[in-house]
Amino acid sequence: MFSLRRPPAHRLSRLFATSAARSGRAVVYAVNGDPATVLRVRSVPALPPPPAGTLNLQVLLAPINPADLNVVEGVYPSKPRADDAVHLPTHSVSDPLDTGTVWVGGNEGVARVSAVGPGVSGLGVGDWVILTRPQAGTWAAERAVAAADVARVPDAEALTEAQAATLTVNPPTAYNMLSEFIDLAPGDWVVQNGANSAVGQAVIQIAKARGLNTLNLVRHRPEIDELKQRLHALGATQVLTYDELADKSVRDKIKAWTGSKAIRLGLNCVGGKDTALMARLLGADAHLVSYGAMAKQPLSLPTSLFIFKNLKSHGFWQTRWYSMKSAEERAQLMQTLVNLIKENKLDTPAHEVLTISAAQTDEEATEKLQEAMVAMSEGRYGKKLLLKIE
Ligand SMILES: NC(=O)c1ccc[n+]([C@@H]2O[C@H](COP(=O)([O-])OP(=O)(O)OC[C@H]3O[C@@H](n4cnc5c(N)ncnc54)[C@H](OP(=O)(O)O)[C@@H]3O)[C@@H](O)[C@H]2O)c1
Repeated sequence: MFSLRRPPAHRLSRLFATSAARSGRAVVYAVNGDPATVLRVRSVPALPPPPAGTLNLQVLLAPINPADLNVVEGVYPSKPRADDAVHLPTHSVSDPLDTGTVWVGGNEGVARVSAVGPGVSGLGVGDWVILTRPQAGTWAAERAVAAADVARVPDAEALTEAQAATLTVNPPTAYNMLSEFIDLAPGDWVVQNGANSAVGQAVIQIAKARGLNTLNLVRHRPEIDELKQRLHALGATQVLTYDELADKSVRDKIKAWTGSKAIRLGLNCVGGKDTALMARLLGADAHLVSYGAMAKQPLSLPTSLFIFKNLKSHGFWQTRWYSMKSAEERAQLMQTLVNLIKENKLDTPAHEVLTISAAQTDEEATEKLQEAMVAMSEGRYGKKLLLKIE
């Protein structure tokens, strides 16, 4: 798919200088398509000193989230701005995707301010920041950004790079879904699928911190006992596989666990028939909140749940939440999450760092990245992948 537009030429030189000196790499794409095919690691020129109102950033760590891959595929509603594109010297005539005009992947990540332009106040060299504008491109060693497009990470000295790099997408999604749809009191129950996802793990931890019980659904796998143990260690009250849930006798077990208390919030990132099974566990006047569609199957719910149980089915998108809230409200949520991390109540999910080292050529680094993309698409990671570009 060739849906991305060309950027205005005046912006290109601002984002990456035309100097010949190489300052680092970026993971870029020239066209939308399968990430394992269209992503490239490219050397980028050194940044010039930042002009007024802007900053130069050294990106420390940036996650590769499922939605980032959807952006590369061109199927995600939030897209990079046309003027975020960058122009690099055409590199290889034998590579048909090497057009020179490219987009830097990545939405989330933590960066260190490396230079401050004139007129910028409240931020200094060494501060840790996150990019607040969606899809601004975090898969790079360095970025030049408007100072208005970043927020300082509070209490950064108390956080690891991984904690700060994963602060703005999954934990706030979990936090908001637990608080925006229904008032839950300690002892109440929440059911969720995809419970071992990064969002699911944040749900488990934040629910535990609030005294809520969680019933967590995951896919079966050979090492299911190990996975259940890991989720229990995070604070999961109960964990079942979708196969176990399909067996009707499990209903009595669940009633015993909950003391027949109605489950009034369900969180869905999967879709398909397993979600219909999960929805049947909800009590009267419950809320089913869908925030992902990992099974790529439509959500199909029994009509009886709406008629007889007054089920309410919603969607949640953290990007929309950010766009509707003030800078103060966004900062308050980030501080709340940082406080939970500092109190050891919330941590980054198990992760692996994919390092693109300065010693690799662009071609070697591209090959390594594309292998990782294939492994991710085949579900061979089972861990959050974080990108470090030297
Ligand atoms: N709406 C929002 O604001 C928002 C915010 C953050 C994330 N999300 C969405 O939430 C979802 C999870 O994101 P994440 O970063 O937490 O993901 P993640 O850590 O990469 O985990 C992916 C999860 O999806 C499960 N999964 C993958 N394919 C599946 C399938 N065919 N059937 C059932 N389960 C499947 C995986 O289970 P296995 O371990 O069994 O493979 C795993 O639990 C994604 O769809 C993401 O786009 C939405």
